Amino acid sequence: MSTTNSNPPEAHRETLVQAEHLSRVIENKVQRTVILDDLSFRIPTGSLFAINGPSGSGKSTLLNILTGIDQPTSGTILFMGQAIRSMNENQLAKWRGKNVGIVFQFFQLLPTLTAEENVLLALELSRTIPRSQWRARTAECLELVGLADKAKRLPSELSGGQQQRIAIARALANQPPVLVADEPTGNLDSKTANEVFDLLASLTQQGKTVIYVTHDPLLAARATHRINLLDGKIVGGDGLVAVTAGSEEAEA
Ligand SMILES: Nc1ncnc2c1ncn2[C@@H]1O[C@H](COP(=O)(O)OP(=O)(O)OP(=O)(O)O)[C@@H](O)[C@H]1O
Ligand SMILES: [Mg+2]
Repeated sequence: MSTTNSNPPEAHRETLVQAEHLSRVIENKVQRTVILDDLSFRIPTGSLFAINGPSGSGKSTLLNILTGIDQPTSGTILFMGQAIRSMNENQLAKWRGKNVGIVFQFFQLLPTLTAEENVLLALELSRTIPRSQWRARTAECLELVGLADKAKRLPSELSGGQQQRIAIARALANQPPVLVADEPTGNLDSKTANEVFDLLASLTQQGKTVIYVTHDPLLAARATHRINLLDGKIVGGDGLVAVTAGSEEAEA
């Protein structure tokens, strides 16, 4: 991934994620529900990528499949050239810890830990960098989200926007190349939402790829690339790819 050129010409952008013919079907004795229906798209490295659509369109399901938290019923995902499906649970967890920072709608900070302890915990759990560097890395992440002065506060002593910025600091702790966020501003007022979104967007200038889910067309419009979902289908956007016929995979 190039970090020296923050805005490479489109033709030269590498592909971070290549998704082909992704489907997710849930079947029980009574009915068969198609949650995602044959989605194919690519996410360019360094993009600010929106998964947009109304409630129930399949956004969270798709995001969970992209990060290997959930499995597709059929189809393939190449994530930085690696087939997500080829990894077992252990390998996936390791891979995710190193490569993907996750930001949640409801922040998910541990309430009894201070802001800096929440960030430290991410380093402790993943052990991607030596213990001697944990403090410095935590301070750096808090600085990056503009909350160095709130390091000792508990989440309950922070505003919603500040809590989400701490959650972003935590997601950045292991220096993942990719951040994924499911409705990261869905629980914030519009001014705070814009500030948090600006922070997420600014991370692409440091070479990160930010993939976010939103039902808000205005936030989706700020993406560099997007797909629009409706009832589990892609109905628009500019992340589409031409896929070769017959590349579907057999059932998992
Ligand atoms: N385990 C499941 N069993 C049956 N249906 C499911 C399951 N998980 C999700 N669904 C259905 O799949 C559809 C897509 O769900 P998903 O959570 O991906 O939507 P979403 O776009 O993220 O919605 P929201 O904006 O409300 O978060 C919904 O209709 C949901 O009810
Ligand atoms: Mg959702």
